[in-house]
Amino acid sequence: MSEPLRLGIAGLGTVGVGVVRIIRTQAALLEARLGRKIEIAAVSARSKSKDRGVPLTGYGWEDDPVALATRDDVDVFVELMGGEDGPAKAATEAAIAAGKQVITANKAMLAVHGQTLAEAAEAKGVALKYEAAVAGGIPVIKTLMEGLAGNQITRVMGVMNGSCNYILTRMETSGKTYQDIFAEADGLGYLEADPQLDVGGIDAAHKLAIISSIAFGTRVDFDGIQLEGIERVSIEDITAAADMGYKIKLLGVTQMTGRGLEQRMQPCLVPETSPLGQLEGGTNMVVIEGDAVGQIVLRGAGAGEGPTASAVMSDVCDIAKGSAGPVFGQPAAGLATATAATSQRPAAYYLRTALVDKPGALAKIATVLGEAGVSINRMRQYEHEAPEAPVLIVTHKTTRAALDTALSAMEDTGVLAGAPVALRIEEV
Ligand code: NAP
Ligand code: HSE
Repeated sequence: MSEPLRLGIAGLGTVGVGVVRIIRTQAALLEARLGRKIEIAAVSARSKSKDRGVPLTGYGWEDDPVALATRDDVDVFVELMGGEDGPAKAATEAAIAAGKQVITANKAMLAVHGQTLAEAAEAKGVALKYEAAVAGGIPVIKTLMEGLAGNQITRVMGVMNGSCNYILTRMETSGKTYQDIFAEADGLGYLEADPQLDVGGIDAAHKLAIISSIAFGTRVDFDGIQLEGIERVSIEDITAAADMGYKIKLLGVTQMTGRGLEQRMQPCLVPETSPLGQLEGGTNMVVIEGDAVGQIVLRGAGAGEGPTASAVMSDVCDIAKGSAGPVFGQPAAGLATATAATSQRPAAYYLRTALVDKPGALAKIATVLGEAGVSINRMRQYEHEAPEAPVLIVTHKTTRAALDTALSAMEDTGVLAGAPVALRIEEV
């Protein structure tokens, strides 16, 4: 039997408590699987006196996470505090410098400082593992790095923020506005302390940046993501999209193209019959495409105590078994600097317009689309009361630049009764 693996856990919130709980309740199972005990040497949080619903007696305590990270009796520093900088980064750096293995669930820190931390960890010969940072309980990192190691990854896409998917699906089932359902989600405690991280798409974009690095062998490039949140998704669009056979999702897509690395996090339409279209509530889904495997779909809980702690434990077990490769799947110093694609791959688009209800209005819209080279695939005009005619158009595949030319020309037609809404339809 090998020596026990001794953890120092910084952060005893949702995820930290989940990890403590698994280590306590599954001690025998873990020891049988790993051939060694997993022990908690010491913990850290802001408040020592808070009742966290799990016993902490017998564990050492540090007020300062940096002190925890460098304790002699800690083999693995487990960073579960969160935050891009501050104590999380300071303690992670201190742990690496002290030669400790590191586990984190902190996507914000990795999306911004991943390259520097990876280089430091690899120079020191220690692991930096982060299965919980992307899509909670879904083993996306392991799947990309190990299960699909023999594939050239061609595209990864997914719904990676449960709160946004909850809001969008609740809007659809209730018929209520974004503002109403945002308030509901906030009241239920589904949103981050800073809700902009969720609804602004930032949390999901952090995850996408990490995925891109592993999938395409590039340095994490959060700033290269074309980012748009869900704040402007209206109930009118959710209803109209459903009528045309689509669902609106905050969809992350990353793919290497001839124009560079295309990373997008934006509201998109997907067919309602597709796995992504059928994803309800707070669940996450990651779709990975590889040249050999084709398409695989991973679905599960992207957040919460049990699922996220489950992912942290996957890293604990890897380290206990001595299996930890380069942080992003290949040596960090050799990762390429990606050129961010400035344009998006051509796609079909959904257009919702309100037209002044007079003869020739629709013809004018069709003309500007045609003149910009945008071809109409489907069109629907609803029963309405004058003076506004609601018209939905689904285009054939086109470039965003051509569509923007048409949208701009539409403003001069004199037949728009409101600003048109254009949303990308992703081929999934
Ligand atoms: P949380 O519930 O807010 O807990 C954060 C913990 O960190 C608290 O125990 C807090 O102490 C402690 N902490 C904060 N600042 C500290 C400091 N300066 N020194 C020592 N301890 C400090 O957060 P969480 O939801 O567990 O998330 C933890 C990490 O996991 C984050 O990076 C998050 O993005 C990631 N993650 C979370 C989920 C999820 O479902 N929650 C899913 C995936 C990834 P007190 O309790 O004393 O205030
Ligand atoms: N707020 C995040 C979500 C938590 O809703 O998915 C997990 O990152």
